[in-house]
Amino acid sequence: MTALHLDDLKQYSDLLRAKDGSEIKVRFVEPRDREELQNYIRSLSSGSRYNRFLGALSELPKTELERFIHVGEADRFTVVATIMVDGFETIVGEARYAFHAETSSVEFGLSISDRWQGYGIGKALLKNLECRAASFGAARIFGDTLRSNTTMIGLARKSDYSFTNSPGDWKLVRFEKQIHVEPQDIPCASWRLAAISRTAAMSSLAV
Ligand SMILES: CC(C)(COP(=O)(O)OP(=O)(O)OC[C@H]1O[C@@H](n2cnc3c(N)ncnc32)[C@H](O)[C@@H]1OP(=O)(O)O)[C@@H](O)C(=O)NCCC(=O)NCCS
Repeated sequence: MTALHLDDLKQYSDLLRAKDGSEIKVRFVEPRDREELQNYIRSLSSGSRYNRFLGALSELPKTELERFIHVGEADRFTVVATIMVDGFETIVGEARYAFHAETSSVEFGLSISDRWQGYGIGKALLKNLECRAASFGAARIFGDTLRSNTTMIGLARKSDYSFTNSPGDWKLVRFEKQIHVEPQDIPCASWRLAAISRTAAMSSLAV
């Protein structure tokens, strides 16, 4: 795994486009986002929250919120998708992913604000997560969702994921994809920076 520079998280930010051309920034969450992230979770419809967290909850429990905010702890990461509204950066989505070195895989969950669902942001964010997974050197990316979550299943199908039973829970389905990233295909800052640091490490070995 290529180490991230956790003291400078801004460099791993990416710009994506929604279907209507709106610019979406994807960046690691920061401590200053704590309250807005919680407000974002509260503002999701109960159905979206249920689908995202696989159960009923009105907000993130305090300990979970702290885990979300602490990027990189236990190889777990949170990104937020934001847009500018009247000059203010506003969270319209989030994703949390974990790198499992032992299986060379990245596991993730994500949500898009109800107001912004259907604009292609989930699809763009998913592609961005694949690129972030590639930057770890992961071979596989996967998530689990409720069998009733036709939207997530539709998004995964459209993004070429395959489906299996989730181990241990018949209510869930696992969607997964092998990662074959060509640098020019799905660029993201994490991948570029990982590639640069690998090249630097190789050339220092060559001396
Ligand atoms: C699932 C979710 C992330 C999708 O994000 P989104 O931004 O609305 O999705 P997109 O607009 O990018 O849609 C991408 C594709 O998903 C599929 N899709 C979107 N809405 C759909 C729906 N209502 N039914 C079936 N498929 C749907 C389509 O294939 C769509 O591609 P298309 O528009 O080219 O046809 C979003 O609905 C969400 O946050 N839901 C609540 C939380 C959740 O379920 N998280 C998943 C837990 S892992």
